[in-house]
Amino acid sequence: MSGKLIALEGLDGAGTTTQTARLVARLIRAGHAAAATREPSDGTIGRFIRQALADRSARALPHGALALLFAADRVDHVANEVAPEVGAGSVVVSDRYVMSSLAYQSTDHDMKWVAEINRLAPRADLTVFVRVSAKTALARVSARGGQPDRFEKLDIQEHVARQYEQALSWMLEDAQACVSVDGERPPDDVEAAIWAAVSPVL
Ligand SMILES: Nc1ncnc2c1ncn2[C@@H]1O[C@H](COP(=O)(O)OP(=O)(O)OP(=O)(O)O)[C@@H](O)[C@H]1O
Ligand SMILES: [Mg+2]
Repeated sequence: MSGKLIALEGLDGAGTTTQTARLVARLIRAGHAAAATREPSDGTIGRFIRQALADRSARALPHGALALLFAADRVDHVANEVAPEVGAGSVVVSDRYVMSSLAYQSTDHDMKWVAEINRLAPRADLTVFVRVSAKTALARVSARGGQPDRFEKLDIQEHVARQYEQALSWMLEDAQACVSVDGERPPDDVEAAIWAAVSPVL
């Protein structure tokens, strides 16, 4: 039996971390070997990315450098974590994958380049885009703590939301297996919608 790679995607606050845990638990209950993972990964490059993003005192990394780091982390993540698990027959659920790079690291003009630097990453067997409005995403993140400049943050979330829609179109045109589910609904409903999308792939 060969395993599968399922990626969950969405804005910050869409609920991908919540749903990754729920999907893995459900897979295990259904008798599958399953494992959760995430990007940035917990490998050397992934840890570096998390540190670089969190360090507000350091000078910001240029967009292109960050894009390359995410792509490099993905190569490491796949080689050292995802591929061995999938090869052993597990269903690996990744909290973010290539679609995050297409959405966060690209503008209208360079999605092709972002896709190109991610060419070493195998396609997920299914990418599930958990769609929420920028407003919902921001409200959930704000409820978790912190006091952001609401207007500025909403602006950013709206920009990322548009980028995600473009990434979805890109992937569909590229014949990649991806679906979107309504992430505005309560967690149980989102979980059920994800399960309905994932179970036919298994
Ligand atoms: N369907 C939902 N309805 C209401 N609240 C939700 C739902 N899903 C998740 N939440 C809550 O919203 C917050 C963000 O959820 P979660 O951490 O899973 O999102 P995320 O997409 O992983 O965010 P990030 O990208 O910041 O890691 C959490 O407090 C979570 O409990
Ligand atoms: Mg998360």
